[in-house]
Amino acid sequence: MNKNTSLFVIFAVSLMLGLSSCGSKSTANKMDNFVDSLMAQMTIEEKLGQLNLPVTGDIVTGQAQSSDIAGAIRAGRVGGLFNLKGSEAIREIQRIAVEESRLGIPLVFGMDVIHGYETVFPIPLAIACTWDEQAVEMVGRISALEATADGICWTFSPMVDICCDARWGRIAESFGEDPYLVSTLAKAMVKGYQQTDLSDTTSMMACVKHFALYGAPEGGRDYNNVELSRYRMYNDYLPPYRATVEAGVGSVMASFNTVEGVPATCNSWLLTDLLRNDWGFKGFVVSDYTAIAEMLNHGVAADLREAAELSLKAGLDMDMVSHGLLLLQDDPKLVEYVNQACRRILVAKHQLGLFENPYRYCNSERRQKDILTQSNRDDARRVARESFVLLKNEKNTLPLKKQSTIALIGPLANTRANMSGTWAVAAVSDKYKTLKEGLEDAVKGKGKVLYAKGCNLTYDPVLEAHATMFGREMRDNRSVQALRDEALRIARQADVIVAAMGESSEFSGECASRTDLTMPDAQADLLKELKETGKPIVLLNFSGRPVILNWEAENLPAILQVWFGGSETADAVADVIFGDYTPSGKLAVAFPRSVGQLPMTYRHYNTGRPLPEGEDKFHKFVSCYMDCPNSPLYPFGFGLTYTQLDYGTLALNQNTLSKANKEVKATIEVKNTGKYDADEIVQLYIRDVVCNPVRPIAELRSWQKIHLAAGESKTVEFTITPDMLGFYTADGLWTVPTGEYHIMVGANSRDLQKLALQYEE
Ligand code: BGC
Repeated sequence: MNKNTSLFVIFAVSLMLGLSSCGSKSTANKMDNFVDSLMAQMTIEEKLGQLNLPVTGDIVTGQAQSSDIAGAIRAGRVGGLFNLKGSEAIREIQRIAVEESRLGIPLVFGMDVIHGYETVFPIPLAIACTWDEQAVEMVGRISALEATADGICWTFSPMVDICCDARWGRIAESFGEDPYLVSTLAKAMVKGYQQTDLSDTTSMMACVKHFALYGAPEGGRDYNNVELSRYRMYNDYLPPYRATVEAGVGSVMASFNTVEGVPATCNSWLLTDLLRNDWGFKGFVVSDYTAIAEMLNHGVAADLREAAELSLKAGLDMDMVSHGLLLLQDDPKLVEYVNQACRRILVAKHQLGLFENPYRYCNSERRQKDILTQSNRDDARRVARESFVLLKNEKNTLPLKKQSTIALIGPLANTRANMSGTWAVAAVSDKYKTLKEGLEDAVKGKGKVLYAKGCNLTYDPVLEAHATMFGREMRDNRSVQALRDEALRIARQADVIVAAMGESSEFSGECASRTDLTMPDAQADLLKELKETGKPIVLLNFSGRPVILNWEAENLPAILQVWFGGSETADAVADVIFGDYTPSGKLAVAFPRSVGQLPMTYRHYNTGRPLPEGEDKFHKFVSCYMDCPNSPLYPFGFGLTYTQLDYGTLALNQNTLSKANKEVKATIEVKNTGKYDADEIVQLYIRDVVCNPVRPIAELRSWQKIHLAAGESKTVEFTITPDMLGFYTADGLWTVPTGEYHIMVGANSRDLQKLALQYEE
């Protein structure tokens, strides 16, 4: 029997066996029978091959035939590949696996589809500023639709690492600082990727990462050690991973960092006790890129074989790029672990329908029909404009009139490649507009856009090269003075200056930690010169992280935080700055005043010596800084609109919540007294006032995004239930103590009204 016939027979027999039971149990039986029969035929080498995940970023079809990878695939030593783009190339490699390996087991093809495929959505940190679950689910949905149309059925997303430290460049890939916001959006993302059925050809298996705590590296330096108590882990960092497990995420990626001194890659408390035994995770765990080999640098294993053994025993199933698990073929004591890991991967392949049809994601017609369509791009534009956060708008500088003469200045104004932001592996930048083109299209026939670059990203060409990797270079070789003169000349001719400045896309992202978060030198100097012209300046701040905008906040009338808005950035910015859409985004992470405040979060614990309520300046022998307020410049949850939103008085329908009366209603009226229709994100925070262990001074527990036409008012009602009051003990047990709570509602984490609520048994 040749391999294709034998796989077919296994498939057919398992189908028949499955028919003897019923419903989803029958499907599960079918799958188990299939995997059992297949595994019975596999050698230990072939089983280990399923655990091996090499990278193939630069394989093209012809090369695949002759490359080492092709040989390894034929020998059954590869379980999947990742970051290979294009269904034709994928089909060809799949063909080698299916037709030329002994058992014909199909490969799984993964990719870092982080915020869209060819239609690129804003970076995740920006998406989070929409606080819009439906939008996030749609991002997942469209990403999956496009990626699966091009051969990909597995994405290394969502990234749900909580991050309160803007020095860490990967904050760009996260949903921000708050565990409740991140958990809610992460679940929506998983739902969007996977839908209810992984075997649907438009569903893609998600991989939650980086498990765990990767967002809290010491000093904000990437890959660095993490030190957290279990109490903080359970309450502040672990909930989003758990939420995705509850949402049925198919796979988990272990993080690079150590947790309690043990690399996550071989941390059995994380990968087995917590993830599988406590949370009930049933999928497979993949390492991060070369993380098994990196265990030698950590100093936890003496050689690759030992590192691989430790990882496998801890609960790791798949090895990304290290080729370490392949070395474990000769130890009978490991067979049980190998079987377990192999089974998990085969089950995932079965769920994705790959055994039924290995080419089901390689349908060339779908490429035309589903990728970078106008409808996908329209959706991306909507999400982008929802993600921008208006930080300042003195004297209604924004919106601008389309009839104006605009001096568009800055290194981000005319670069196509930088609009998508970091981790946009499948982006096709030449098909996206530059900001300049977007604004020109918007004012066509009405106003004028004058453009000058004005300056480079930084004076330092080496730093600039690091910040513009992967084909995103933008350096201009003219002199500082020549660039500046050109900018000042057009600024003087204009009604308003629109400054497109900040970070380039690779100034944040992986391995892009920074210690200075102020506006890069060349741009800061140019802004000062532009201010001297006396023209109003609108700063469009591009960044993949919170940055420090103290000077800008003091000296410029308007600041719109645009992050990296994805493929449709240009049109989305035009929509907002010309008032076709009123900004509604709210910060998913605070903007600090100084790097010295980091890490920071509004969810902090009080000290024994807090600042007096309402005060934010130095007091001797109180927990504060001598040279900087404690507060951030822009708090978590903050964002302005073009209209005026007035909050009424917060009310509770009862002051006591108990198991008997089950819920209390909190209500507040919000009125749009301005001239623009707008969306508002009304936020509810809770504090447990007296508790041992102590609880944070506020925790987001609910929010509502409402639309208010100009002149309209709405009463927002929140239902408070006991589960919103609880927390995890240091042993990971959920508890809801009785006693006094504060219920706080408002427009952001700083401007809140407060009422007391008693919780009784
Ligand atoms: C990153 C992961 C990513 C992987 C594969 C690693 O460097 O940490 O987030 O999924 O590479 O590209």
